Amino acid sequence: MNDYLPAVPGVVNAMRNGRNPYEGYQRGWGLQYGGLKDLILVDSLYRRASSFANQYSIVSEDNRMNLFLIMRFFLSSIDKGHIIEFGSYRGGNAMFLAFLAKQLYPGMKVYALDTYEGMPITDKYIDCHKKDDFSDVNYDSLVDIASQNKLDNLIFVKGLFSDTVDTTLEQAGAIILSHIDCDISSSVLFSYQKVSEYMVEGGYIVFDDATTSSCIGATEVVEQHLVRNQGLHSEQIWPHFVFRSSRGSMTCSPDQLHIAPMVNIPAIDNSLMGAIAAADTWASRVAAIEASTSWRITRPLRALGRAWRAFSEE
Ligand SMILES: C[S@@+](CC[C@H](N)C(=O)[O-])C[C@H]1O[C@@H](n2cnc3c(N)ncnc32)[C@H](O)[C@@H]1O
Repeated sequence: MNDYLPAVPGVVNAMRNGRNPYEGYQRGWGLQYGGLKDLILVDSLYRRASSFANQYSIVSEDNRMNLFLIMRFFLSSIDKGHIIEFGSYRGGNAMFLAFLAKQLYPGMKVYALDTYEGMPITDKYIDCHKKDDFSDVNYDSLVDIASQNKLDNLIFVKGLFSDTVDTTLEQAGAIILSHIDCDISSSVLFSYQKVSEYMVEGGYIVFDDATTSSCIGATEVVEQHLVRNQGLHSEQIWPHFVFRSSRGSMTCSPDQLHIAPMVNIPAIDNSLMGAIAAADTWASRVAAIEASTSWRITRPLRALGRAWRAFSEE
């Protein structure tokens, strides 16, 4: 396979803090500034796969190209697993992924989870989307289109994630790429927590909408749970967040969700010790003054002064 990814001069190609910045630059910088889009657009594999997405997906082309790069050039170097999409709407991106998987990785399945009847209840304090958004789906015709195109590796899983995810993940066993595209805080968090347990080492977790203006709920999940609580670093922030899975660092128990491991405890300790030492110094100076002869001799004069001030204010 012809690798047309750009070289990134001056950056070491190595893992750092759980992700590979070099590979993140190859895709993100390559797409944004390095002319990679033009090369993808003439790649016949991308063109054929895109025919599904163009009609039936609202995923942006930059995001889709990045998923394409991950699939075409990066999945082959990690352990085998399947693909899952949380939030498939009219199924266009799921069909795009299934077409690529079929061409590149025989045996790889794509699980496409959605109510296919629109959004569940959303949280008015953080989500911009409302219940029943994305309900304009013809599920039966979607299943027909996939079957007409012989996408027999694509499995549509209809229902709320909370009702379907456990069985689906047990059936899949291992996930190599998780595309989290469900927009609202509760669903993004739920998907992430569930799928984390099934990711292969170095697998890709992609958040389609955490950098989208209408999805601050998704952003909050990445900020709070991945960055703050788990101390993870992303491999890409553009065109979407991409994290690499790592056994032990992603799986989280409920009580871990409130710990902030990124806080610099030694630095806090040092400044606290400094403050305590300064307070001690001041306390001994005050004690020395109060014990001094001059302080004791002038005590009656100070008392007289206070009485005089009180008398003149009346
Ligand atoms: C932005 S759309 C997905 C777009 C799609 N990936 C595409 O290719 O166009 C978000 C979808 O997430 C689904 N969704 C959100 N929360 C869900 C939940 N808890 N259970 C099932 N589906 C959910 C909605 O029904 C909606 O169709």
